[in-house]
Amino acid sequence: MRVGVLVSGRGSNLRALAAAEGVAYELAVVISNVEDAPALAFAQARGIPTAVVSHRGWPQDAPGGPRAAFERALTARLRDAGVEQVVLAGFMRVLSPEFVGAWPGRIVNIHPSLLPAFPGLHAQAQALAAGVRVAGCTVHLVDEGTDTGPILSQAAVPVRWDDTETTLSERILVQEHRLLPRVLDALARGQLQVQWGPEGRRVVGELEPQ
Ligand code: GRF
Repeated sequence: MRVGVLVSGRGSNLRALAAAEGVAYELAVVISNVEDAPALAFAQARGIPTAVVSHRGWPQDAPGGPRAAFERALTARLRDAGVEQVVLAGFMRVLSPEFVGAWPGRIVNIHPSLLPAFPGLHAQAQALAAGVRVAGCTVHLVDEGTDTGPILSQAAVPVRWDDTETTLSERILVQEHRLLPRVLDALARGQLQVQWGPEGRRVVGELEPQ
């Protein structure tokens, strides 16, 4: 399965995807909207094809507006690379329903909370503020909402009484790096599927126990 990874920053999840061995996916392209993202430098050093598609500078009078033009450029790059599955790994732009519709059921996101709790920014701080005793991370399919699509898999991380946003984020990140490659591998092998039925959508299948 040819995977295209969209990034904006640090790229630790991208590293985890690249480091996984014996997986049924390959990284076909890494696209960043930020030219100096460390994630992009990592991909270049690793010999993974890369592209920069800035979200800035698109003409106001482009059909559908500047964001639509930006997203068309993203889709064109992804298609050029023969991408079958898109992964958002710290990609800091909200994607429109049009972009999501161009990749139906084919975009995966990783989010640092146990969704549906704490969507949006600063999920770990939201968890601490709410006083939950278990936090974690979620890999889900992207739909038109923010962090609302079908959940593919989750990992729990106990919250410690003396956690700060930094310490909790670090421990969640360890689980993110374990979870994301496993989910992509399971998708590539057809072990995880989303089905739509009369009661709505449901995810069929499990990750293999490790
Ligand atoms: C991760 O915490 C991920 O859950 C969130 O953005 C962060 C990206 O980190 N969506 P990195 O760039 O993969 O290191």
